[in-house]
Amino acid sequence: MSFTFKNFPADRDDLRSDVLAGLAACPKSIPPKYFYDEAGCRLFESICAQPEYVLTRTEGALLRARLGDIAAAIGAVDCIVEPGAGECAKVRLLLQALHPSHLVVLDIAGGPLAAAAESLSRDHPGLAVTALGMDFIRDLDAAAPHLPEGRRLIYYPGSSIGNFAPDAAATLLTRFRRLAGTAGQLLIGFDLKKDPLQLHAAYNDAAGVTAAFNLNLLERLNRELDADFDTSRFRHYAFYNPTAGRIEMHLASLAAQDVSVAGQRFHFALGETLHTENSYKFRRDEFSAIATNAGWPLKAEWELDGFAVQLYGNVD
Ligand code: AVI
Repeated sequence: MSFTFKNFPADRDDLRSDVLAGLAACPKSIPPKYFYDEAGCRLFESICAQPEYVLTRTEGALLRARLGDIAAAIGAVDCIVEPGAGECAKVRLLLQALHPSHLVVLDIAGGPLAAAAESLSRDHPGLAVTALGMDFIRDLDAAAPHLPEGRRLIYYPGSSIGNFAPDAAATLLTRFRRLAGTAGQLLIGFDLKKDPLQLHAAYNDAAGVTAAFNLNLLERLNRELDADFDTSRFRHYAFYNPTAGRIEMHLASLAAQDVSVAGQRFHFALGETLHTENSYKFRRDEFSAIATNAGWPLKAEWELDGFAVQLYGNVD
């Protein structure tokens, strides 16, 4: 029916100020949303195809196996909203089952999102597709004027919620609640706590794709912030932290070295790390406690091979 794309131009000042603040902090860190430039998006798609990273395939298998039950639990929906939609691949299954009249997809990487959403809209001539290139973590409310009235389903798959610290996850879920409205629902997928060695392997794939994804962040800073990181002097370092219940990804400095970023110098001691991502793993009850506190009553849940999908909203 129609395809609309609006890009909220990524603010280079955000990248610059977030990176400079993160490098000046102790310990050093950079928000994981900055992984996703064009090269980072491609590398993430490749991670999802690695044999050790079963998360994406397991979620797909769970949705395919339980699609009828999931659609019945959701009921009638006018609009699906997917923050962080990336390649718009996962939502295709839901479209088949729910037949909404509108789809609104959001992603910080506006270019790849627009291409994927336009191709999806060609495959669904009866669907109104709106793609918003925006940093929804910073400003989700900016999406509100682009949503049609009616019953809304927020779809947040892929365990993306695991990339937020618990407080930030609660804040994002509260914002989802506001965007969905009181009659709205949330379908969310997240990775469950499991054998730490299985988790370790998923973030240390043998082909080195996750390592390349992590190191691409430094290459991005070289490209966009006139930095001079020598990527051969940093190593991808990812491990499961059982106390915090999360995978931590870091870039470890293999030497004592100084690096210049946007005209400022930063010192790395030998072995010091730059913390680039957390990926929290949950028990189902742990997650539903967070979501319930954020105003989402649990309606139904499904589980397969260490991955869970939960549906939230008022029971009518
Ligand atoms: C996007 N997110 C859910 C992925 C994860 O598993 O935390 C990002 C990722 N990082 C390394 N591998 C995958």
